[in-house]
Amino acid sequence: MMTKLRILGYGKALAQKPITNDDLSKMVDTNDEWIYSRTGIKSRYVTIDENTSDLGYRASCMAIDDAQINANELDIIIVATMTPDKFTPSVASMIQARLGIENANIYAFDINCACSGFIFALKIAAKLLEPGQKALVIGAETLSKIINWQDRTTCVLFGDGAGAMIVSADENAQSAAFYLHTINDDQQVLFANGISLDSAEQRYGNIQMKGQEVFKFAINAMSEAIIKVLEEADITLDDISLIIPHQANLRIIKAVAKKMNIDLDKFYINLEKYGNTSAASIPLALADANDQQMLGNNKKIIMVGFGAGLSYGACLLQI
Ligand code: UT7
Repeated sequence: MMTKLRILGYGKALAQKPITNDDLSKMVDTNDEWIYSRTGIKSRYVTIDENTSDLGYRASCMAIDDAQINANELDIIIVATMTPDKFTPSVASMIQARLGIENANIYAFDINCACSGFIFALKIAAKLLEPGQKALVIGAETLSKIINWQDRTTCVLFGDGAGAMIVSADENAQSAAFYLHTINDDQQVLFANGISLDSAEQRYGNIQMKGQEVFKFAINAMSEAIIKVLEEADITLDDISLIIPHQANLRIIKAVAKKMNIDLDKFYINLEKYGNTSAASIPLALADANDQQMLGNNKKIIMVGFGAGLSYGACLLQI
């Protein structure tokens, strides 16, 4: 059954330190021309002393203000992240405490679905929300903690940040359509090790990937997910005002546009400024699109993402 969702507010937080491609070229053997032509990225923000919960908290405060609600009106907090501050408690619990929420119904938890995490978190919120209830859904990452800054094949791609959204279950809103899927990553094309039992050297891991494999997967995955939510909502691409894709690589977005014969202008793109912020990328893009008055007026939008797992998914919403 499709869930009726209304978006009440958006928020975002950028990490403190901008790092340009030229800055990176002083750290590893790379250059602006390579990075920009292969990815579309010019700059990214990296944290100095803020952890994931700090970025998530800042984005949450902005979303709460934007929604013009009191934090105590929230019923659920879900954080999508693969770079939590601690193994426990969850980033969501930490944000609940900093917001000082004492609502008797509140519960908070994290999910990890890598770069697809925000879509998965939104689907969970849609399933859990009772009519009239409100959820704070956050994507927050400090990927700089798990990047090998000597590895030019990965360090140029990622950035830190957070995006947040307040969403309510509203009988008068339009139904949201979701599609989520994970396929077996037999070849380990995208991963970051956690704590290993094997040896001290392997205790913590940096992000590693087979870029071209991920690239091919991403194009098929995003195209399939867009088709699936259109089918579920029983509408066509012509009815969609804006597609908010995971901001990983401009060439991936262009390839999806070409494969599906969609005008590139229909895709919201801000990866030039932020790089790939994983679970934060879609809510950061939503917050920026909202700042630019591109949302609202009952527009239909599709959010679509892919990431480690291998996971992918989409959400079609009227906002
Ligand atoms: O959220 C999901 C996260 N992951 C992704 O979205 C990744 C998807 N994949 C990609 O975006 C692309 O595969 C990359 C941007 C990662 C790489 O682009 P590519 O066109 O697939 O390049 P490549 O891996 O085939 O590398 C081409 C060359 C290689 O040199 P040789 O072997 O041709 O001499 C690399 O060593 O470029 C070299 N290279 C670099 N050169 C300068 C790799 N990284 C860099 C770099 N600067 N940063």
